[in-house]
Amino acid sequence: MKIIAFNSSPRKNGNTELLLKETIRGIEDAGKSVVTYNLNLMKIKACQDCGGCNETGVCIIDDDMTGLYEAIRTADRIILASPIFFFSLSAQAKLMIDRCQAFWCEKYLMSKPIDGGKSGRKGLVLLVGGMKKDVGVKCAEACATAYFRTISVPEHNMLSYLDIDSKGDIVKHPTALIDAYEAGKALIK
Ligand SMILES: Cc1cc2nc3c(=O)[nH]c(=O)nc-3n(C[C@H](O)[C@H](O)[C@H](O)COP(=O)(O)O)c2cc1C
Repeated sequence: MKIIAFNSSPRKNGNTELLLKETIRGIEDAGKSVVTYNLNLMKIKACQDCGGCNETGVCIIDDDMTGLYEAIRTADRIILASPIFFFSLSAQAKLMIDRCQAFWCEKYLMSKPIDGGKSGRKGLVLLVGGMKKDVGVKCAEACATAYFRTISVPEHNMLSYLDIDSKGDIVKHPTALIDAYEAGKALIK
């Protein structure tokens, strides 16, 4: 089973990363490994809406996204971890997601959705936000759902935590790290 994770937070050892690490620990304790991509360290240009992928499903921009297309295509499990920034996913996550327009073209214009493989494709979204209001979570989840639909991940779970602002606040949450660990184990069942 191939499992990939996107850390979309720029903050090293921040709340998103701590939460994701627990999910990965749950997966690793169950005997599987995870390839993690730190989107903040990758060079991913914004989608140019150039139409270059319309007829081929292949993006014509050559940057760090080039390798991610294959990783996304062949993954059985995909974890998307992001802080809430301005009521949505982080820009780091959104750059990668928008470049999946190439998969959108492949699926909807060329009628070639990504194959589900033997284990099916499942997703997990991890979100942390500093505010108490859940509007950011709702917007981010809508975006993540559109992403998963485009890359043919028919089901996903989501863990979201609000009022988590300062670095390390997630550790003080009564259940977050345990939830994340269990979500990792559940993801590979
Ligand atoms: C640019 C920016 C925008 C933010 N916008 C929101 C927001 O709209 N809603 C929210 O709940 N928190 C917002 N926050 C707070 C972060 O979501 C919060 O600090 C989170 O714990 C950061 O996670 P990290 O430690 O993984 O970076 C924002 C933080 C930054 C830096």
